[in-house]
Amino acid sequence: MPDEVVEWVMETSPLVIVDGTYGGGGHARRLLERLPSGEGHVIGLDRDPAVSQRVEGEEATNPSFDSRLTVFLASYEQTPKALARLNLEQADALVLDLGLSSDQLADRNRGFSFTQDGPLDLRFDPENGTPANRWLAQHDEKQIADAIYQYGEERFSRRIARAIVARARERRPVESVNDLVEICRRCVPRSRNHDIHPATRTFQALRIAVNDELGILERTLADAPRWIAAGGRLAVISFHSLEDRIVKTAFRDDDAWDVLTKKPLRPSELEIANNPRSRSAKMRVAQRR
Ligand SMILES: C[S@@+](CC[C@H](N)C(=O)[O-])C[C@H]1O[C@@H](n2cnc3c(N)ncnc32)[C@H](O)[C@@H]1O
Repeated sequence: MPDEVVEWVMETSPLVIVDGTYGGGGHARRLLERLPSGEGHVIGLDRDPAVSQRVEGEEATNPSFDSRLTVFLASYEQTPKALARLNLEQADALVLDLGLSSDQLADRNRGFSFTQDGPLDLRFDPENGTPANRWLAQHDEKQIADAIYQYGEERFSRRIARAIVARARERRPVESVNDLVEICRRCVPRSRNHDIHPATRTFQALRIAVNDELGILERTLADAPRWIAAGGRLAVISFHSLEDRIVKTAFRDDDAWDVLTKKPLRPSELEIANNPRSRSAKMRVAQRR
């Protein structure tokens, strides 16, 4: 929802904008275009080292690289540290476009796409933390089932967890994307109109678990009023109900925010036609009092 993000965020004429999920830089580019000429700063953050490496390459080779953009390898939870590196204390806006980028989905070594086999990793930052296959080996059947239920809202979580643990005991542990997809196919009955792949909810759950996605979102929303300037805006695009619920509750329950979107905004028909992955996107915007 790039057009909507830019419209909502730029309405208050911010100068220091944090794009907490830089990814391919699409939002950041549009925000830079809308800043007054030669003024302002966009600070991009991404946990994926491939993103900061790509931007470093662009900076080194592209003579027209916009000097008003700085990209850090960091979680958006670390925004105050990034601001401090630039001698700033507050930002005028924060944009979060949660989930994964199309580059990450396409890279078979990351394990995000269950249509191509590869190691079951699922980390946004493959240099830190625990890959999903090791996470499964380190947790017992109940913990695995609880995570799949809680973070994937998967009704067949117990069955899947039992199969994961049985496989490790009887043959060898789940190592690859295909190992887990095969288990999900066996344990999850096909959805009525075949619109959801049987592994969708399980992969979502493990991705959330290994990246602590909900914890980071909750902590950042609670902390953001401290470093978003009065009148500044926070726009969050989420892709599933667990994230959206966290955003909705954080905005509603904290007096620091004026909620500008009573209901979440949805992508246009045109955007969904051009980018089917956007169909579950929901955007909420709040303004710092
Ligand atoms: C949907 S993509 C963003 C796409 C971006 N808005 C664009 O226009 O290209 C989400 C990005 O957020 C990153 N990400 C996920 N969790 C993060 C976190 N806690 N902190 C920083 N980046 C994160 C992912 O690595 C991914 O690159």
